[in-house]
Amino acid sequence: MNEQAGELIRHAFEAQKRSYSPYSEFRVGAALLGKSGKIYHGCNIENAAYSPGSCAERTAIFKAVSEGETEFTAIAIVGNKKGVEKGKGEICAPCGVCRQVMAEFCDPKEFEIILGVSEEQYQLYSLEELLPLSFGKKDLER
Ligand code: THU
Repeated sequence: MNEQAGELIRHAFEAQKRSYSPYSEFRVGAALLGKSGKIYHGCNIENAAYSPGSCAERTAIFKAVSEGETEFTAIAIVGNKKGVEKGKGEICAPCGVCRQVMAEFCDPKEFEIILGVSEEQYQLYSLEELLPLSFGKKDLER
């Protein structure tokens, strides 16, 4: 996983460059690895009316799904206040809404969430660890 994690984090930093976050000045990038091997970039996109904005993670997932990929292996996320240098910030954990969106498409035990500070410094979690006792498709089938 080490090499793959570093590579996905590198992509997440690329995605972060496109962050549109004039209101919070909190810049987030995500890189989502599809089961096909394709990597989808996402950034946070804010709005003057605030609530229409999207997180980086959801941008990446919705891009992928709209392009026909619905199964994923891992996501790398990087985020920090504008001006913080790579390697000097903190990890950026996904918000609750993004965790729920991940649960729609990702296996909770297998899907890896990589929270990067730099390509070398990161924390790894499964979706199940970040969203225990989740509500999902299975509940609607009972
Ligand atoms: N944000 C993300 O894009 N992902 C996260 O995991 C946390 C928060 C964005 C939303 C908003 O544009 C800004 O960061 C501040 O909340």
